[in-house]
Amino acid sequence: MSSSVRNAAEAGRADSEPVADRAKLGSASISQLDDWGKQLLEPSLTFTPGDARRTGLPDDSVDLIVTSPPYWNKRDYGHSNQIGLEPTADAYVNSIMACLEEWRRVLRPHGSVFLNVGDTYFNKSLLGIPGQIEWQAAKGKWLIRNRIIWAKESGMPEPAKNRLANRHEYIIHLTLKPTYYYDLVGYADEFGNGANPGDVWTIKPERNMGLHLAPYPRELVRRAIKLAAPTQVCSTCSIPRRRVIERTAELDPSRPQARRAMELAKEKGLTPEHIRAIQAFGVSDVGKATKFQNGTGRNSAEVQRLAAEAKIALGGYFREFTFAKKHTVGWTDCGHGTPGRGVVLDPFAGTGTTLRTAIEEGRDAIGVDLVNWMDQPEVGA
Ligand SMILES: C[S@@+](CC[C@H](N)C(=O)[O-])C[C@H]1O[C@@H](n2cnc3c(N)ncnc32)[C@H](O)[C@@H]1O
Repeated sequence: MSSSVRNAAEAGRADSEPVADRAKLGSASISQLDDWGKQLLEPSLTFTPGDARRTGLPDDSVDLIVTSPPYWNKRDYGHSNQIGLEPTADAYVNSIMACLEEWRRVLRPHGSVFLNVGDTYFNKSLLGIPGQIEWQAAKGKWLIRNRIIWAKESGMPEPAKNRLANRHEYIIHLTLKPTYYYDLVGYADEFGNGANPGDVWTIKPERNMGLHLAPYPRELVRRAIKLAAPTQVCSTCSIPRRRVIERTAELDPSRPQARRAMELAKEKGLTPEHIRAIQAFGVSDVGKATKFQNGTGRNSAEVQRLAAEAKIALGGYFREFTFAKKHTVGWTDCGHGTPGRGVVLDPFAGTGTTLRTAIEEGRDAIGVDLVNWMDQPEVGA
């Protein structure tokens, strides 16, 4: 096997991990992002007029879709093929399902969709449209990974006197496979002080709404991109480069339990190998671990022995070390040396919020829309 083929195969294994942990990568190739980054072209923006259900894009060509379709029964965009003015909510949900079928085709296997969708009142009742979309999508073998609440700090005044004003929308995160690309570590560094920041996004409204009444803030797009659009993808094998992390033994000293764990580890003379063994086991009960994965070293008998020893020394505090800070040691490298940028698609591109944000974030951007709103003079940059 040639070295580049071997590396690609190894990177393929890394591709099956949501985040590549150095301990699990074995001898897979790792390098810095810059090693490829220097060869990248400027990020590109492409707009194609068309229908979100028939984009005309090649199969397996997109890493992330971030989009906000027209909501049901809200607005007339003045086009005969438009989505949003179907006679019933069921017909609208079917239109969104037709979009998802098309997006399944254009997405790469590690791809994701972040679908911003709102609900509609009809005969005084909310219809539960986001839930209906999730239900149908799950039946169609999509994985619904999150229903993110976009919480608005303010909003349009509403005349209703017997219900609360609506101050949130949903962003549904869907994937094709459990092994989708996801950079929680990078995202959490920016949006969560290192911890998992949770599924409520409180985003300040933006002033520039262009022609569209539906405000779609750039921060919403930026969050989705940080989470699920790879910075670099190999243009030969389409494998994204994933962050490789290593856990440190560093705990958060502001937490009393963490301080006690560090004291105990010192008192009992635990070694860095003990700490790594605890981290290899995670929070599973070391005494009950039955599966051994020799080869990666994750659950070898020696690792199990060290983890059990550390657990006795630390008692319940051993879990603290499984929350230790992570640090990036590099990025997976398939070895082809043919770098490309991650590709973000918005099939309801509108005024181009997604596309501009993708470019700012160093990803290639593709927009599809029945109308090219970006050419309209009223649309601000
Ligand atoms: C809510 S807007 C998108 C707003 C966008 N997030 C922004 O910030 O400008 C919805 C867009 O969907 C487009 N549209 C409606 N039906 C469509 C279809 N079948 N295929 C593609 N675009 C469509 C409309 O032209 C409109 O630009």
